[in-house]
Amino acid sequence: MKYNFDEVIERKNTNSVSYEGWKSHIVKEATQEEYIRMWVADMDFSTPPEILEAMHTRLNKKILGYSEVFDDKYFKVLEDWFLKRYNWPIHTKHLVFSPGVVPALNRLVPLLTENNENVLINTPSYYPFYTSTLNNERKIFFSGLKKINGRFEIDYADIEKKLTDTDKNIKLFIHSHPHNPTGRVWTKEELQKLGEICLKNDVFILSDEIHCDLLRRGLQHIPFSSLFPSSDKIITCTAPSKTFNVAGNLLSHIFIPNDKIREEWNRLYSSSLSPLSIAGTQAAYAQCEDWLEELKIYLDGNFKLLDRKIKSLLPHAKFTVPESTYLAWLDISVYLDKIPEGGNVRDFLLKNAKVIVEDSNRFVDNSQGFIRLNLASPRKVIAEGIERIAQALNA
Ligand SMILES: Cc1ncc(COP(=O)(O)O)c(C=O)c1O
Repeated sequence: MKYNFDEVIERKNTNSVSYEGWKSHIVKEATQEEYIRMWVADMDFSTPPEILEAMHTRLNKKILGYSEVFDDKYFKVLEDWFLKRYNWPIHTKHLVFSPGVVPALNRLVPLLTENNENVLINTPSYYPFYTSTLNNERKIFFSGLKKINGRFEIDYADIEKKLTDTDKNIKLFIHSHPHNPTGRVWTKEELQKLGEICLKNDVFILSDEIHCDLLRRGLQHIPFSSLFPSSDKIITCTAPSKTFNVAGNLLSHIFIPNDKIREEWNRLYSSSLSPLSIAGTQAAYAQCEDWLEELKIYLDGNFKLLDRKIKSLLPHAKFTVPESTYLAWLDISVYLDKIPEGGNVRDFLLKNAKVIVEDSNRFVDNSQGFIRLNLASPRKVIAEGIERIAQALNA
């Protein structure tokens, strides 16, 4: 391995949400050092040195004035990445920049729906799918994923029923592809079926593909819109943030094929970017493929470790290694009789295991009894985290 994912990096005094933010988000008393952080979805690994180097080089040019992307090389690098890895010929004229996928969701809901039109999501769900809808005063409807033989499946009949219900007036489906929190990588057949149901009912699809680069080795991501190249109703959200641990650069790529909606976005929102983020992003897609391949090997190893530890320490928990992401979705419902009435799992594990996790409250619906663990940390930290959780649940 050329890169060292075992390195434990001090995040103290970096204004990190993962390291410092949890105090205001979760609990105010207690000292930081005692806790293992397996919550917010960024990584404890170094951002690739190639990105840091490119940002240093840009910094050395001394002026950090207003910046946008004017250099065609940037777009070429993006085109090459998506074509090579996903056989997806992106159209850079469809591209707009956003400070993040969550801001893009908040911006897009009112552009894709009228006031009286509503939104459907699968549950469990990444929480901002829910809030971006409510923030914009649209109603939200849920279609629960069904767990069949340990695998989460889409309930097409339920989706079709809801989309054809004129009282619900659903005009937008927000899809996590791959899926946070279950890690499902939707297959070509699944996307085809879902896409046909939505398009036939004149429903926009907002396909959030932020996790698309982080699949278990051997699996393949298929961009949703690549299956419907003639449709302008599929918006794709991508970003270097998860893949290369650059969430703090606040730069994501949103592909909006519908001209009117894209023009409205461009009218409302500036395309100014941080010059450091531009340099870092270009380096990421141009130079960091080897780093990503090594990261994936390391993450596969972390999931193997978790799987082994769960089998031996928490044999009644239900867990399948996810097809993607660095997030584990673990059903610990059998152990929850430990938790006092009215208490929640996150607080229980915070107090008794000194591990910070995300619990079912963060995933909207259809998630009772689950916790989500972030495995993007050095292996020895992950090992200790799961041992502490197991000890607390078995006590
Ligand atoms: C499905 C999904 N979308 C979006 C985000 C965050 O996007 P951003 O940081 O670009 O706003 C996350 C982060 O966990 C996510 O899991």
